[in-house]
Amino acid sequence: MQISTSARSITPSMTIGMDDRARRLRRQGVDIVSFAAGEPDFDTPEVIKRAAAKAIQEGFTKYTSPAGIIELRQAVAARLEAAYGARYAPEEVVITAGGKPALYFALRALCEPGDEVLVPIPAWVSYIEQVKLAGARPVPVPTEAREGFELLPSRVAPLITPRTRALLINSPHNPTGAVYSREALAGLVELSRQREFILLSDEIYESMVYDGAKHHCVPGAWPEARDRVVLLNSMSKTYAMTGWRIGYAAAPAAVAAAITDLQGHLSGNPNSIAQRAALAALEERVDPGEMVAEYDRRRRYIVTRLNALPGIRCGTPRGAFYAFPDITELLGLPGVPKTAAAFSEYLLETAHVAVVPGEAFEAPGFLRFSYATALPRIEEGLDRIARAIADLV
Ligand SMILES: Cc1ncc(COP(=O)(O)O)c(C=O)c1O
Repeated sequence: MQISTSARSITPSMTIGMDDRARRLRRQGVDIVSFAAGEPDFDTPEVIKRAAAKAIQEGFTKYTSPAGIIELRQAVAARLEAAYGARYAPEEVVITAGGKPALYFALRALCEPGDEVLVPIPAWVSYIEQVKLAGARPVPVPTEAREGFELLPSRVAPLITPRTRALLINSPHNPTGAVYSREALAGLVELSRQREFILLSDEIYESMVYDGAKHHCVPGAWPEARDRVVLLNSMSKTYAMTGWRIGYAAAPAAVAAAITDLQGHLSGNPNSIAQRAALAALEERVDPGEMVAEYDRRRRYIVTRLNALPGIRCGTPRGAFYAFPDITELLGLPGVPKTAAAFSEYLLETAHVAVVPGEAFEAPGFLRFSYATALPRIEEGLDRIARAIADLV
């Protein structure tokens, strides 16, 4: 059977690929230390699980509205207002099966074929593929390690054309851990006004900020831009609910309605039981504070250890749960594999450590380490990497 051009144009997710390989090796009895998974290693809080069990017991197991249950849409709207002053009516909130479909449906709702979507690079693996699948054209916007991967308006401005439809913003950022400053975001908001494009603001790592960094919710901090903003978020990271598949989009009513119509035909309502679980997370005000404090400890440790390795330079991430070291110097040393992809392969095969190569994020010469892994395992993984490098140089 012939696979369609559009399906063939997709690059499979390297992060999922690496994680799958690590799992497979584990099943074969190999002791793998994995820094590959982009998900919390903490269990979903009890209060959330209990709400799901109760939903099952009560027979809350049928279709819901394709936009999600009204109680959850209200709770999301209430939380956005309480946390950030972002004002949305429940009708402007659509519950989706995770952050991924929220973004895809938003792109489908807003882009014409050939429209350009600006994507800051390095970029989370699914952005470019989703933009392509939506029939639009991804336009990379460079960000630099020496600038802390800040998305500078001065780098965005020259890339705007009459076909520019949207700019994807992701702060705190995967994979770099950058948290965009208020000043940079204000500049981007102003550009979007002048040049009339949409801001797709993926704020999935909103709760994970360190060293006093502040997360700025775009529609909360710049309410005047609200008509040009689609806010994307998910329960996955903040509430350790990756497998439950609940996310949301908040957008002006017409956009929310279009997203709902797309979802209604494509996947239908998100899981009814998981919606009740997500509602409990918000109503009970589950606090990810302890989880974030533990990420912070690991973050400091991993950055110090990475910087002690030859040829590796790692800036201090201020958000999310990733370290993103530059290994170009190491790759230039005699005897060392020449690309981040080949080096990751070497680490997996010889040291049994899984990391994601920068190529996955359009950033060759870098590696992504998720520190959503217990500290003793991080220690063990870095010891192994140190030995594997010492064997080469
Ligand atoms: C930046 C970013 N956005 C969106 C998602 C999607 O999350 P989910 O679909 O699990 O809610 C992820 C997951 O890794 C992510 O890192």
